[in-house]
Amino acid sequence: MPGFSTRLIDWQHAHGRHNLPWQGTRDPYRIWLSEIMLQQTQVAAVIPYYLRFLERFPDVAALAAAPVEEIMALWSGLGYYARARNLHRAACAVMEQHGGHFPATAALLSELPGIGRSTAAAIAAFASNERAAILDGNVKRVLCRAFGIEGFPGERATEERLWALAESLLPENAEDTGVYIQAQMDLGATVCTRTRPSCQACPLVAQCVAYETGRTAELPTARPRKTPPRRFSRMAVVILGDSVLLERRPPAGIWGSLLALPEIPEGIQIETWAMRHLGIDQIAAHPLPPLVHTFTHFTLEIAPWRIDLPAAPRMLSESAWQWLALEKTGTAALPTPVRKILDSVFTAPPLQERDGQIPLFGGVAGEA
Ligand code: ADE
Repeated sequence: MPGFSTRLIDWQHAHGRHNLPWQGTRDPYRIWLSEIMLQQTQVAAVIPYYLRFLERFPDVAALAAAPVEEIMALWSGLGYYARARNLHRAACAVMEQHGGHFPATAALLSELPGIGRSTAAAIAAFASNERAAILDGNVKRVLCRAFGIEGFPGERATEERLWALAESLLPENAEDTGVYIQAQMDLGATVCTRTRPSCQACPLVAQCVAYETGRTAELPTARPRKTPPRRFSRMAVVILGDSVLLERRPPAGIWGSLLALPEIPEGIQIETWAMRHLGIDQIAAHPLPPLVHTFTHFTLEIAPWRIDLPAAPRMLSESAWQWLALEKTGTAALPTPVRKILDSVFTAPPLQERDGQIPLFGGVAGEA
């Protein structure tokens, strides 16, 4: 059975990409420029930038001599601007430390700003067929699937394992390194794609563990999800006749500019809060069922407390507070959890008076 690198090299000759503007050169300056641009950007987006850059800066001396502002302007639109600043710093370093000759060994390249281990290896492989392994996102995906490697590739142990594997798979013959590296890149970009890979077109299908076990969707292992921090909030559902008290939230932050329930700050008893903010000293407060709402970065557990006012309060302490008729809650700008709480209150059967009495705060359940 042909080996991993042989299959990839044969595939590259027949199906890989051969006409990209940075191919067919051994000039490390040109190869470096393309690899930096391709670090976080797709081929199609890079091509026009690459051509413009080469026209304006045909060699490393021209790039080093340019003001960094001009480089930034020409880079504008490619994103990840640290790449452009490092480009200029690396060009200056080549002029100062290498006499204007762009180095072509992975060891020297990786000392330049903006060039990590994988990029250094790619440049060295393309410029001088150095036997150096690459391990970018595409290659990680191909290796995890082909060899059934479990574990998030961003984790150190998994990454070290992948580097060792990548080194061990390099073709014996140094002459083949450039084609092999390009094959890995092209396979990851065009066949072994993140979603819906084209396994039938893949030269590795006969030896691919993920294909054989039906796990192309599970490999590589996704980044482990951190459990989001949990926050807790008591919210007041203050009801007066057929209106509910709502607060217009400030434009920034969660629920920006929406109408939400007033929050009862931590560490204050609900009676004290009602006294201070509504000027009411005898309240009936009932805990409503708690509700958990998941935001992107945290989980909010809401403990709603229903407070029925027998008469209009003497004051409303907050200018952002307003009364809303219950019939209008259906169309008001309410966040989902607030809407759920109000729905549960107003579609639920009326509260049962217990022993003929609406219990005062603290008489039903302890403060959560
Ligand atoms: N992505 C990174 N380097 C590349 C290259 N040389 N060709 C195509 N895609 C790439």
